[in-house]
Amino acid sequence: MAFDLPCILYFFFLLFPSSLVAQRNGNATVGDSLTAGDEATLWLSPAEDFAFGFRQLDKKDLYLLAIWYNKIPDKTIVWYANGDRPAPKKSTVKLTAELGVVLNNPQGGEIWKSGPGNGEAAYGFMNDTGNFLVANANGEKLWQSFELLTDTLLPTQIMEKGGILSSRLSETNFSQGRFQFRLIPDGNAVLNTINLPTGFPYEAYFWSKTVDSNSSNAGYQVVFNESGYLYVLRANNTREALTLGRVVPATENYHRATLHFDGVFVLYSHPKNSPGNENWSVVRTMPENICTVVRGLKGSGPCGYNGVCTISTDKRAICRCPQRFSLLDPDDPYGGCKPDFPTQVCAEEVPNAPEDYELVPLTNIDWPESDYEMYTPYNIEDCKKACLQDFFCNVIVFGEGTCWKKRLPLSNGRQGESVNGASFMKVRKGNYTLPGPPPIPKKNRDS
Ligand SMILES: *[C@@H]1O[C@H](CO)[C@@H](O)[C@H](O)[C@H]1NC(C)=O
Ligand SMILES: *[C@@H]1O[C@H](CO)[C@@H](O)[C@H](O)[C@H]1NC(C)=O
Ligand SMILES: *[C@@H]1O[C@H](CO)[C@@H](O)[C@H](O)[C@H]1NC(C)=O
Ligand SMILES: *[C@@H]1O[C@H](CO)[C@@H](O)[C@H](O)[C@H]1NC(C)=O
Ligand SMILES: *[C@@H]1O[C@H](CO)[C@@H](O)[C@H](O)[C@H]1NC(C)=O
Ligand SMILES: *[C@@H]1O[C@H](CO)[C@@H](O)[C@H](O)[C@H]1NC(C)=O
Ligand SMILES: *[C@@H]1O[C@H](CO)[C@@H](O)[C@H](O)[C@H]1NC(C)=O
Ligand SMILES: *[C@@H]1O[C@H](CO)[C@@H](O)[C@H](O)[C@H]1NC(C)=O
Repeated sequence: MAFDLPCILYFFFLLFPSSLVAQRNGNATVGDSLTAGDEATLWLSPAEDFAFGFRQLDKKDLYLLAIWYNKIPDKTIVWYANGDRPAPKKSTVKLTAELGVVLNNPQGGEIWKSGPGNGEAAYGFMNDTGNFLVANANGEKLWQSFELLTDTLLPTQIMEKGGILSSRLSETNFSQGRFQFRLIPDGNAVLNTINLPTGFPYEAYFWSKTVDSNSSNAGYQVVFNESGYLYVLRANNTREALTLGRVVPATENYHRATLHFDGVFVLYSHPKNSPGNENWSVVRTMPENICTVVRGLKGSGPCGYNGVCTISTDKRAICRCPQRFSLLDPDDPYGGCKPDFPTQVCAEEVPNAPEDYELVPLTNIDWPESDYEMYTPYNIEDCKKACLQDFFCNVIVFGEGTCWKKRLPLSNGRQGESVNGASFMKVRKGNYTLPGPPPIPKKNRDS
């Protein structure tokens, strides 16, 4: 294999001399194209810090049109065009005069296009800042990847009011995820959960506190400056730092700010010239504890419905299912959990009576906002009895003479020392697991 390589390179030189030259200085001219699955073609930035091209998705014959750090072992992706619509093998991306960068499937169907907005594109340029731009013959910018925000901000990038950074669905699935980092009209930069697929924003769980009744004192841009500092710039030109303390120099280090799929927004740095085994180091994590700050009556929380969140040493979410529950999607630990037993239902079925169920203790686990009843003053025995005799009750939490009843689906679950009171899950007695899919009802609905 290794012996073939020089021949292949030579072959490419013969076939595509101009596109190889174009790669050297970061330029792609109108008509140039790249093909998904053909690793030899990339558009590199002049110093080769960043690459623009296709990345294969984990264990799939699907490709992402992306920008990534080209010189570090991690090849970290910082931008992507088609997270919701991965491209099949042999898809092409082409630089065109009328439509800018166009991503087509092998049949020629359009998957994504940048659009030039106005004017006629002449060339594309992968800058060493990580920004890919499309320009006209006069060198005027028609489109740039920095303006199409995905989950990462880079130094020299600015997020204007109304700008939204969106998390991906999981580490390997680049579809839209459940979290956002936004600069909202009142001047606050916030982290919030959303509804999928509508994108409707739910409650925030982090605020830059740059709101001000006088709009000339409120936040108006999120700036990642070329030295690697992230801050909210107020309209009166003062800064509210999101980077705390000093960072390593951007001349010798990369910096990035990524909103992860578990809702944690992390500032990182990485040495540019690493002997091989360095990794991204965390500069700051927002929030400090994702498990306890995500609240609100809508949305599931970082671990999905019925899931339980604990915080890792690097302040990221770790998700588990409570006793007698298992993952909804076995491949997605963050996707929520389902009971492995038939829950009590309001029907004359057997066995379904209170004596068929029992309460098992949970260790320091709570779902703080799934309550529907609160009894106080009360004692724990009456609390247990009240749950067993109530079809709707799935969990009780008892503390300091107060009993809370909770029902499925449980949201914003967390486990930790800070959880107050004793909690119990109502489960079917015995070693009962759910049989296969329920039988299809024989009767027609309208008969
Ligand atoms: C890229 O190509 C355009 C058009 O040929 C040219 O004006 C520009 O200077 C080139 N940029 C670089 C960095 O080579
Ligand atoms: C590339 O980025 C540098 C640094 O921000 C900037 O000065 C330069 O103008 C950019 N190049 C183009 C072609 O936009
Ligand atoms: C990503 O997740 C979505 C939603 O579960 C799914 O429809 C899609 O097929 C997944 N994408 C990939 C590439 O696995
Ligand atoms: C808003 O603040 C600016 C100074 O930042 C001040 O000049 C201006 O008078 C204020 N406007 C109001 C309505 O208070
Ligand atoms: C800008 O606004 C902030 C928040 O109101 C205030 O603390 C700061 O003093 C102001 N700076 C100037 C220069 O007006
Ligand atoms: C970037 O921001 C930091 C913090 O506000 C500041 O110390 C530094 O001078 C800025 N760098 C540049 C190039 O403006
Ligand atoms: C770098 O970090 C990633 C993500 O945490 C991890 O998967 C990888 O193993 C690390 N690489 C090294 C060389 O430590
Ligand atoms: C429960 O049933 C499963 C599967 O039938 C079995 O593997 C397991 O050992 C049983 N556990 C107990 C405590 O009986």
